[in-house]
Amino acid sequence: MEKSGSRVLIIDLGSQYAQLIARRIREEHVYCEIHPPDRSIEWIRAWGPGAVILSGGPASVYDEGVPGVDPGLLGAGIPLLGICYGMQLIAENEGGRVLPGQREYGPADLTADGASGLFHGLGGRSLRVWCSHGDHVDAAPPGYRAIASTPTLPVAAFRAEDREIYGVQFHPEVAHTEQGAEIISNFLFRIAGLSPTWTPGVFVEEAVGRIRERAGGEAVICGLSGGVDSSVAAALVHRAIGDQLTCVFIDTGLLRKGEREGVERTFRRHMGIRLIVVPAAHEFLPPLAGEADPERKRRIIGNTFIRVFEQVAGEAGSDARFLVQGTLYPDVIESVSTGGPSATIKTHHNVGGLPDDMPFTLIEPLRELFKDEVREVGRVLGLPEAFVGRHPFPGPGLAVRVLGEVSEARVATLREADAIYMEEIRRAGLYDEIWQAFAVLLPVRSVGVMGDARTYEHVVALRAVTSRDGMTADWYPFPPEVLATVSARIINEVPGVNRVTYDVSSKPPATIEWE
Ligand code: XMP
Repeated sequence: MEKSGSRVLIIDLGSQYAQLIARRIREEHVYCEIHPPDRSIEWIRAWGPGAVILSGGPASVYDEGVPGVDPGLLGAGIPLLGICYGMQLIAENEGGRVLPGQREYGPADLTADGASGLFHGLGGRSLRVWCSHGDHVDAAPPGYRAIASTPTLPVAAFRAEDREIYGVQFHPEVAHTEQGAEIISNFLFRIAGLSPTWTPGVFVEEAVGRIRERAGGEAVICGLSGGVDSSVAAALVHRAIGDQLTCVFIDTGLLRKGEREGVERTFRRHMGIRLIVVPAAHEFLPPLAGEADPERKRRIIGNTFIRVFEQVAGEAGSDARFLVQGTLYPDVIESVSTGGPSATIKTHHNVGGLPDDMPFTLIEPLRELFKDEVREVGRVLGLPEAFVGRHPFPGPGLAVRVLGEVSEARVATLREADAIYMEEIRRAGLYDEIWQAFAVLLPVRSVGVMGDARTYEHVVALRAVTSRDGMTADWYPFPPEVLATVSARIINEVPGVNRVTYDVSSKPPATIEWE
């Protein structure tokens, strides 16, 4: 965490874009955190922001019980930027006029005052910005002046004459606002005088110190899933405390081809991390026999995972006091945009589904990071690119991609088809363009013809999506020749498969996984 005075506090007033604001600031190499609006001015001063940003939000200043901020913030001498509802809140507090009920959604052409600091370098031309509001500021408060306008907004942005307080009616944080990054950068560096000191290298250095202090001389255990988050968390803790760390990798029998070998190679041989590999397919597959219900499959796997991990951790880590988890910042944000401050606090998201009553204290070294930052940290720590840039893989593994009943034979069929698919995606140089790709074994059979004989065999569906965060996704438009190669290879090389289909559903309404 950056020192006080060099970081930014984002007050989330219910915006769907609060995380986007945070990401834009982090991209400028400035540390920031998102907090709910009930923080008092005393709390804010103690936290020590070098600047504060008030997010947008769905509320209207004319409604009852809407989120507000401590009015002391306006006189605190801390550079302040209000976005959309955040701007309206400043206007309301300072005696400006907010005009209710004129919805405006979409692009607008902004003319800005380049001498205003916020729009430095952007004056004298029309800027394309993105609006999404019901109310808007119609007259700047006394002591403020308009510094930008659009054909429909006379006060598209304002600033206080005597303090570093700014407001924008549009959304500089969204990609549709073409000069959004420059506007945010102007606020951070020109107005607030911050420095771009938040880098993955600095993070690693500070995190190493914190982990050493927290772990002392005690033993630490880490459940490694092979995914990016737990891998980076393990590498970071290893950098801090070396052989005090033991990693446990459970081979559930539901992993991709070569996964276990890849983890052993990377962690044991390449990174020199103490690694216990637990072959446990015999624990996971029998209880799945005869079970076709997706949720019950997940539960069976989750429970088995806990049992096996507890047993191994009990033996290997009998003296361990700490457990490492790869929890990320989106899991810990105490945000209003997801439904209400206290109702939605997620303390941690148990990656392996481990119970809370395990006799360990948690070390969550990635709690402050977004996914893209985790990848950067992984690179700084020397994790191979193939690990750092890999697609997400679900905890229950191939079991949720073998639709219907899971058997060793069906998992083996899917594993082979999936390996061919991945190999061809990499060969075509498309892996990094795709957010997630995988094969699915369908619980149907279809008629085909091979040689002169009729076949009646299994169907494999291919899925590939682009996404920013997994919340929404689009199917990936492969060049037809890539699909043709994958299909021909799977049908020729994987016994029991005579048909391949490509999934052209977006999320929503479909989900990324089929189960
Ligand atoms: P859906 O299918 O909900 O998936 O669109 C969104 C993202 O979450 C992953 N996923 C899971 N990850 N355990 C996990 O660790 C699960 O049970 C699980 N289900 C879905 C999915 O792979 C995608 O990246």
